[in-house]
Amino acid sequence: MKMLESSPSRYDRGIAILTLGKINKIYDRLIENIEENDHVLDIGCGTGMLSIRAVLKEATVVGIDINPQMLEIARKRAEEKECQSNLELLEMGVAELDKFENSSFDKILSGLCLSELSEDELNFTLKESKRILKTKGLFILGDENRPQSILKRMINFLLRTPLVIITYILTQTSTSALKDIELKLQLSGYEMISVRKNFLGNFIEIVAKNAKEDEL
Ligand SMILES: C[S@@+](CC[C@H](N)C(=O)[O-])C[C@H]1O[C@@H](n2cnc3c(N)ncnc32)[C@H](O)[C@@H]1O
Repeated sequence: MKMLESSPSRYDRGIAILTLGKINKIYDRLIENIEENDHVLDIGCGTGMLSIRAVLKEATVVGIDINPQMLEIARKRAEEKECQSNLELLEMGVAELDKFENSSFDKILSGLCLSELSEDELNFTLKESKRILKTKGLFILGDENRPQSILKRMINFLLRTPLVIITYILTQTSTSALKDIELKLQLSGYEMISVRKNFLGNFIEIVAKNAKEDEL
């Protein structure tokens, strides 16, 4: 969905088409893992779809994103919902995660952002997330996923290609998918709490715990 960055106002429509209208339900489900008074980091917060949900659950949220236009929309939405006081929006990339102190956050959220990162950025993000999350803190992720079986990959390609073309025509946005994200999280020191994939395996929801070294 990289081209979204140049057209943030089209973002929500693009996501709605690509997920066949399921994104709100998915994000509501991810946010069930957020509790009152949690201190939360939202990586690639975009227009604030996850951040604002978390703030409305009485969490304090830091949303980071490299795109100032997306952040501006998030800021306006938070003001409309009168919840801006518990939301800090920072224009920064994942490469700057090393600015946060050790064990700063109870939970880390990321919706549809990790799939936009380069391999190096993703590895760095997983390593730094573990450092800045409290022990037993949760990494909560929803993103596009590359199905493991070749058959599902072929069906996915056939079904998704028309959708991707329609989305591109309507919104000029494109899409990519995560590969082996469960394994990458485990290798980075996370313990899987729950993994949910849709039928085709092309969207993944993960809740992973920052395990203590001796629990791995
Ligand atoms: C597809 S949007 C998802 C936005 C939001 N999380 C949501 O679910 O609606 C991906 C977001 O990740 C941001 N992003 C991409 N690369 C990034 C990076 N290196 N560091 C921080 N944010 C990044 C983009 O600017 C964009 O707002």
